[in-house]
Amino acid sequence: EGSHVEPYRIKVVEPLAFTTREEREAALKRVAYNPFDLRADEVTIDLLSDSGTGAISADQLAAGMQGDESYAGSRSFYRWHEVVSELTGYPHILPAHQGRAAERILFSSLLRPGTSVLSNTHFDTTRANVELTGCTAYDLPCAEAKDLDSDFPFKGNIDLIALEQALENADRTPVGAVLMTITNNGGGGQPVSMDNLHRTAELCRRHNVPMILDAARFAENAWLVTQREPGYADRTPRQVAEEAFRLADGCVMSAKKDGIVHIGGFIGLKDAELAERCGGLLIATEGFTTYGGLSGRDLDMMARGLLEVTEPAYLAERADIAAYLAARIREAGVDIVEPAGLHALYVNAGRLLPHIPPHQYPGTALVCELYLRGGIRSAELGSLYLGEEDEHGNPVKTAPYELVRLALPRRVYTRSHYDHVAATLADIAKNPESVRGYRVTGQSPILRHFSIKLEPV
Ligand code: F0G
Repeated sequence: EGSHVEPYRIKVVEPLAFTTREEREAALKRVAYNPFDLRADEVTIDLLSDSGTGAISADQLAAGMQGDESYAGSRSFYRWHEVVSELTGYPHILPAHQGRAAERILFSSLLRPGTSVLSNTHFDTTRANVELTGCTAYDLPCAEAKDLDSDFPFKGNIDLIALEQALENADRTPVGAVLMTITNNGGGGQPVSMDNLHRTAELCRRHNVPMILDAARFAENAWLVTQREPGYADRTPRQVAEEAFRLADGCVMSAKKDGIVHIGGFIGLKDAELAERCGGLLIATEGFTTYGGLSGRDLDMMARGLLEVTEPAYLAERADIAAYLAARIREAGVDIVEPAGLHALYVNAGRLLPHIPPHQYPGTALVCELYLRGGIRSAELGSLYLGEEDEHGNPVKTAPYELVRLALPRRVYTRSHYDHVAATLADIAKNPESVRGYRVTGQSPILRHFSIKLEPV
């Protein structure tokens, strides 16, 4: 911790928005305590997402200036295609405007209704896209993931025994695909080991089920493999990433994360016939197969970002700044999901606010408190995200843990910004019992956390 300097300096800056406590109270009330509805100019430090929020490099900007905006067959497409082919090894690559577009197109081309998809953990839009095709999404996280405090290095792994059983019972419930999310965003941002990926690939081969990577944070996963997995210390993150892609039959990618771009994604596939079906749907709903909803400029910037993201100096510093914030939070006596990953820290709000029951949303209470005291925007990952109530508001299902995700945008905030985040958490931890819970006043049937309305209890 503290040993890596940023391998860049800052050339373009953007002012932060500072607000008063009164302004924040009014803003939070106006949006019915749902931070997704805050305006960005009401937020000082925005840790809502690491998606599309990174700072681009001068080289990316320059590459964007070379963007070729021809409708079909642009130079940008061919430059981008070469970079993605070399990284992934897939013979068929289709651009898409972001991850969920890639998911929708791949799943509706690959999955037959009534089948199931097995995953270490589906991200929320990924699960929604599986379900929208009439399939069932099952999460099979490894047993070690249940202990939030342990230092087990690969809590993102899939439970191989549960996976094997599910694949063997496939005559009852056919399995349409196995989806490995690297890193496991829904599961605390934890990495998946190469050993786990190899064994999963082997099981999939034996049962003739395609293995697909949700590769949004493939470089961060590769970095953690080089740091934590025996036998990989001498590999570069790039080599590990190349190996991971080649183990799978294909991937969906949100380049808004490890492409370090504001918009972009892709599908990569080994199977020509499946790629052709995806291409047809892509043309009908995203754009021609050489742009997929993106401009030439976007493709060139993504190509450059995909090269920068596996640079060891970039990844080492990204891990270091996350470790820095993690250490400050622990010093404040607040627990996070251990061990700390790279793209986000997951605060154990349930443990910090034990007086707030799950159906009064301790995670939301902490999200609101971080905003009220520090102008910090974060995201609940607890019973608001995963829970359910009946029509009278009585709890039917609660989440196993009440977490708050502090997502860390790439190359955006400095250690002093994170000092402010840690100081705000420390302040809350001094008298946590003063924080109140919330109740739901309005919600929608799918992905409710994006549009929910709340009031303090
Ligand atoms: N897969 C994973 C693992 C993700 O984290 C995301 C997005 C997606 C797929 C969808 O990609 O946003 O480009 O359509 N995660 C963001 C987040 C939104 O904040 O974690 P997208």
